[in-house]
Amino acid sequence: MSTALVTQPEVSSERRSRVASRVANLKPSGIRRFFDLVLGRPEILSLGVGEPDYSTPWAIREQGIFSLEKGHTSYTSNQGYLPFRQSIARWLEREMGVSYNPETEILVTVGVSEALDLAFRAMLEAEDEVLIPEPCFVSYPALVELAGGVPVSVPTHSLTGFVPTLEDLERRCSPRTRAILFNFPGNPTGATIEPSAMRKLADWIIRKDLILLSDEIYSPLTYEGKHTSFASLPGLKDRTILLHGLSKAWAMTGWRIGYAAGPSDILAAMTKIHQYQIMCAGITGQMAGMEALDHGDEDCRRMVEDYARRRRFIVKSLNEMGLPCHLPGGAFYAFPSIRESGLSSEEFALRLLEEQDVAVVPGDAFGDSGEGHVRCSYATSLEVISQAMGRMKRFVDSL
Ligand SMILES: Cc1ncc(COP(=O)(O)O)c(C=O)c1O
Repeated sequence: MSTALVTQPEVSSERRSRVASRVANLKPSGIRRFFDLVLGRPEILSLGVGEPDYSTPWAIREQGIFSLEKGHTSYTSNQGYLPFRQSIARWLEREMGVSYNPETEILVTVGVSEALDLAFRAMLEAEDEVLIPEPCFVSYPALVELAGGVPVSVPTHSLTGFVPTLEDLERRCSPRTRAILFNFPGNPTGATIEPSAMRKLADWIIRKDLILLSDEIYSPLTYEGKHTSFASLPGLKDRTILLHGLSKAWAMTGWRIGYAAGPSDILAAMTKIHQYQIMCAGITGQMAGMEALDHGDEDCRRMVEDYARRRRFIVKSLNEMGLPCHLPGGAFYAFPSIRESGLSSEEFALRLLEEQDVAVVPGDAFGDSGEGHVRCSYATSLEVISQAMGRMKRFVDSL
């Protein structure tokens, strides 16, 4: 067919890119790039994936199936199915010692991922800054940028247990700083934080009049002592958006259920965006989620015990092969230093993959301060971890 017959755009002098610069300028996720190398190679032992190797516990799956059998296939209210929000409120009261009104202070989202996006978009004006301790979950800086804000990274180190110091925070805080984000237990470091350190950070946040986003998605996977929520500290509840969800501790990544709990004004603003963009989280996941929160403690405990065994094994193995690794207090990641190898994180991970068929994630995928480390997920069987550690030792010995 002749092109002469096809309508042509009226030519403007300079053709605009079809992709918004805000998106074009986003750095691609370092994790994704690495996973692409692993795709379609079944011989590889992967310590790369940040999701449980378990299926969702049967009783929870059964409630999802049962709800479908009963014909629960509709939308729920924008904020989420009220009985599920009530389950969330009960769980938060029981586990975190914080009470929330399920009518006005809880919003059910499509994973913590959506809750983070909503929170940034609901509270940031253009160029507002958000302090983000690094190394961190890859989505945080990108979502701040997409919301028009400016992510300001605060490097942390293994020497201070990957907890930011007040001096470092003070140095990066400016009149434009609007919020700060904490993630304990943390991805990728597994870091947890002592209540005394939490109180110091809490006082500083109040003095600076900041909003705190506290991503506590890994809280049930706390191996030493009991998790303390930032929202439970004096003076913080009214300025904290607590983010949590079912993906990790209940092995429910694919159900896509998370939630935000916090002050009603911010929650109402988040709900406004959520109702236009998502309408509501999927009903089946919310139905199953009630079972997880009301009756899932025992299943959760069994998985945590298993992760704890793997944690001890992987940390011991890494230290014995000469890759210093702190004992992660929570989540399911070990974050050893690979500096002694003389390789960069990326070189280490690429060569380990090519020479020994073991996948780990280079630490710099989680921000510049992750350089010198790799992330090894132990959300995989002890057998795979054990074989991977054998191969990793061979690799380190060969350097
Ligand atoms: C710290 C952290 N927050 C949030 C998420 C996203 O979780 P969700 O599946 O609830 O979106 C992840 C997933 O890896 C994570 O590691």
